[in-house]
Amino acid sequence: VKAAKEHFIPEDLNKVLENKVMETVSDLYHVKVSVVEMTCLGDADSEGIVSKSVSSHSDLIPGVYEGGLKIWECTFDLMDYFSEAKIEFSNKTVLDLGCGAGLLGIVALKGKAERVHFQDYNSTVIEEITLPNVVANCINEGSSRKASKPPAKRPKKGEGSPDALTKCRFFSGEWSEVSQLLSSSNKLFSKYDIILTSETIYNPDYYSALHDTLAQLLDKNGHVYLASKVHYFGVGGGIYLFEKLIEERNVFRTSIVKTIDQGLQRCIMEMAFK
Ligand SMILES: C[S@@+](CC[C@H](N)C(=O)[O-])C[C@H]1O[C@@H](n2cnc3c(N)ncnc32)[C@H](O)[C@@H]1O
Repeated sequence: VKAAKEHFIPEDLNKVLENKVMETVSDLYHVKVSVVEMTCLGDADSEGIVSKSVSSHSDLIPGVYEGGLKIWECTFDLMDYFSEAKIEFSNKTVLDLGCGAGLLGIVALKGKAERVHFQDYNSTVIEEITLPNVVANCINEGSSRKASKPPAKRPKKGEGSPDALTKCRFFSGEWSEVSQLLSSSNKLFSKYDIILTSETIYNPDYYSALHDTLAQLLDKNGHVYLASKVHYFGVGGGIYLFEKLIEERNVFRTSIVKTIDQGLQRCIMEMAFK
């Protein structure tokens, strides 16, 4: 298993955005991944996941690369659900678990969350995708970009409210390891009011670690919003299998709050302690 590590935001924010080209996705800044793939073949990817995923034509290499370089479709389902259900992030402590691009956490941050933490299995994803995305969205907050204007290819540097950045922390590593690091951290760790997690139940081998991490990190009155395909063909996971484990463990109650039927069937599950 991959050990847990905290990634700190460099003082010079320009460093984070060096060599990055930004696009917008659902009104949020997002690094152009093809550019990351081109610039990431040397030291920047000490895990070697970019070349491994390209050469194996695979979005998932169990235990090596867990999919965080691309944005998976359930992220958009969950973002839609936030607006439909008017989920409130203001003053909440939030964890984007298995964050990849980190768009869910960024939405929470824009919703005035008090604290947002991001976790991905892969350190390269955190360094090359998540951190640049969060920085780009934070420093451009407050600049008066009209909605009708096309987005700048590169966000203006050094302006806006990096204040929001002080609310963020970034972690890589396997779930049990990260959970242990967070809970044993002497920096007055507090549990999360909201845990957001999208497309993280594709592999049944990880269910136990995921369940225990949620149980360990969620506040007693907190809520998990989990977005998933109903079934992951080829990998074997899916919502019913994960629900079965949750029932056996008897810690959480669950409800399916939305199903999406276009294309592959998907759903959103809410979880809270019994
Ligand atoms: C398929 S990606 C989804 C990324 C993102 N949430 C999205 O919707 O675009 C799965 C995410 O879960 C994380 N993940 C999967 N298995 C993990 C494990 N066993 N330990 C830690 N993180 C894991 C990966 O790093 C990745 O961020």
